[in-house]
This record gives sequence, C-alpha cells and structure tokens, in this order.
Amino acid sequence: MKGIFITLEGPDGSGKSTIMKKLTHYFKDKNIDFIGTREPGGTEIGEDIRNIILDKKNKNMAAETEALLYAASRGQHVHEKILPALKMGKIVLCERFILSSLAYQGVGRGLGIEEVRMINDFAIKGIRPDLTLFFHVDPSLTLDRKTKRNEGDRLEKEGTEFHKEVYRGYMELLKKYPENIKIIDASKTIEEVFNQSICHIEKVLKNQRGVIV
Ligand code: TYD
Repeated sequence: MKGIFITLEGPDGSGKSTIMKKLTHYFKDKNIDFIGTREPGGTEIGEDIRNIILDKKNKNMAAETEALLYAASRGQHVHEKILPALKMGKIVLCERFILSSLAYQGVGRGLGIEEVRMINDFAIKGIRPDLTLFFHVDPSLTLDRKTKRNEGDRLEKEGTEFHKEVYRGYMELLKKYPENIKIIDASKTIEEVFNQSICHIEKVLKNQRGVIV
C-alpha cells in the first residue's frame, strides 16, 4: 500500500498545532497507521538544527544560512523519517514543509522562490505532499495572537513587515502551485477548522485507497 503525505502550512499562529493534535487523536481512534511530525525538526539532528535556527542569540544569521539550515533539517527528515514511513504505507502528517521555506525564506527574506526551491529539491529527493492544508488567517490577527501568548522565537520576533511579506508570499505560492493545496478558513472555530481539514483528508484517502473512514 502506498503511503500518503499530508502537510499543514500557514503563517505563525494560524492554529496548525491545535489541529495537528486533533488529527492525531482522529487517526488513533480510527486505527489508521500514521506518524505525526514537524519542521524544522522531526529528527534528533533536525531538532538540533531547529534550535540553532530559532535561537534568539543568532541575530547575525545570514538569510542564505537560514535557508540552507531549514533545507538541511528537511533533508534529514525526509531521509530518516518521511520516506521510510511512506515506503511502509503509512500516512505522514507533517507540520510545515517546503512551502514554508518558499514563503519565509524565498519571499519573506527575499531570496527568491526559485532559488530556495533549488536548494530544497537537492535536499528532498523529489518528494511532494499528496495534500497540503493551508490554514488561512489574516496576518494582523495571527501576529496579535502569537505575541499575546509568549515572547516568541527568532522568526516570530521578526517585525510585522516580515510577516506581511511571508503572507504575501503564501498568497503568491497558492496561485503558482494550486495543485494539491486546499485552503482552510482558519478564522473559524477549532471544530469547524478541524471538520474542513478532515473533509479534505477523507477525500484523498478515498481517492488513493478507496476507503471511507
Ligand atoms: P514552527 O515551530 O512551526 O512555528 P509555529 O508553530 O509558530 O508555526 O516554526 C518555527 C518557525 O520557523 C516559524 O516562524 C516558521 C519558520 N520556518 C521557516 O521560516 N522556514 C521553514 O522552512 C520552516 C519549516 C519554518
């Protein structure tokens, strides 16, 4: 049986983690073989790289270094965790993947979408999500939510202009690569956002496996 690769994408504070937790329970309840993981991180090496990237003391990190570190973490993740799980026929649920790099480093940092895509293509061996759920919320709302909750890591502490650029980047990417990306209205209640997500996931499961869950 072929594995299914599902990614959750969206700006900081768009509620991905909450929905990820609910999806984890949902898959467990249905006895579906899956793994849940996240980026940057997901492996021991990847988590070490994540700490370097997000550490507030690394103020001098060049945008290129940042992009390469995200790609390095992703390369390890694909090699050690994602590909093996997909080969075993599992569903892989992953918070953030290449689209985050294209939006944050490609557009937010201004490195260019194609440039960032190139270094990622090298890292991830052509693997592509079967489904991406994009959690859409107005950026002013998400930034507000985030700053109220905690102090924020190095990326979250970037100014509003950076996060607006990231949002603009996502909008551009949704137009550029509409295949397999489903937009979720994340301004709704958690229950509604979860139901929208499940609806898309069930369609993919039905199409690829012929199963109704
Ligand atoms: P994450 O822990 O997922 O943050 P959140 O839970 O707030 O969504 O990701 C940490 C930060 O890293 C987040 O600000 C987004 C950023 N990021 C990139 O800039 N590029 C990437 O490729 C990835 C995966 C994340």
